[in-house]
Amino acid sequence: MSSLFDLTGKVAVVTGGTKGIGRSIAKGYAMAGAEVVITGRRQEGCDEAAAELNDELGGQSVRGIACHMGEWDQIDALVDRVYGDFGRIDVLVNNAGINPAPVTVSDCTEAYFDKVYAVNVKGPIRLAGLVAPRMGEAGGGSIINVTTMGAYGGGPGVGIYTSSKAALHNLTRAMAGEWAGLNVRVNSLVPGPFMSEMMKGSMRFDPEFPERSGKATMMKRVADCDEIIGLALYLASDASSYATGHDFKIAGGM
Ligand SMILES: NC(=O)c1ccc[n+]([C@@H]2O[C@H](COP(=O)([O-])OP(=O)(O)OC[C@H]3O[C@@H](n4cnc5c(N)ncnc54)[C@H](OP(=O)(O)O)[C@@H]3O)[C@@H](O)[C@H]2O)c1
Repeated sequence: MSSLFDLTGKVAVVTGGTKGIGRSIAKGYAMAGAEVVITGRRQEGCDEAAAELNDELGGQSVRGIACHMGEWDQIDALVDRVYGDFGRIDVLVNNAGINPAPVTVSDCTEAYFDKVYAVNVKGPIRLAGLVAPRMGEAGGGSIINVTTMGAYGGGPGVGIYTSSKAALHNLTRAMAGEWAGLNVRVNSLVPGPFMSEMMKGSMRFDPEFPERSGKATMMKRVADCDEIIGLALYLASDASSYATGHDFKIAGGM
């Protein structure tokens, strides 16, 4: 049974793996035997997070490489670097995402829009677009786009963020269809409220947000980031070999 979830010999890239949900996903993949590349905006932050994870796990399987997900050129360089150093990517998690202070549609500036859509939509398109054909040449792989429960609904003040995630959600279907023949599976992982840096940051402009989000779930609580690991591992591994083009919620019944 455990071989279904085994990632030994695989290379995984987790964008935004320095903190929060991405960091827990990276930890889970390393625990399952993968070599894991985590990314974030600053090399120092990537090195620190990788060192902390390696200490925690007692190994050297996590490496940090800086890459701004809104910058096309940096994404190209990331892919070159990972293929240069590791020779393959078997699992790609488009996890890095931003949700800045809420803004209404009327007050949204061009800069705000461009920033959110660059990181949440443009980056995942470019990164997956570069990696999928090479995954296919090597026999296949799994791509996981991290979206949000808000992608199904949205609401006042958060529409720029939730619509960017809805776009990514929709792109999962396009990617899955375009790459199924390459044996590259693509799915959306859809979190509800998790106690990450992003969640803590929301308290700056809405102190009640975490509590309200927890109450909006059936389980009446916000998740710990490590509670993402089981589903992320399922989607990355052979355990999900017939799953592609789908969205998988992990949201306490929200
Ligand atoms: N937490 C939740 O309740 C929740 C709910 C639904 C969906 N999500 C989604 O889950 C994903 C992870 O969220 P989180 O809550 O774990 O967020 P987080 O704690 O804020 O962590 C975000 C990660 O993304 C990286 N990042 C931010 N901007 C980046 C950029 N421009 N380029 C590259 N990396 C960047 C950060 O790294 P550095 O700071 O080192 O650059 C960090 O590792 C996001 O896509 C988010 O939308 C979260």
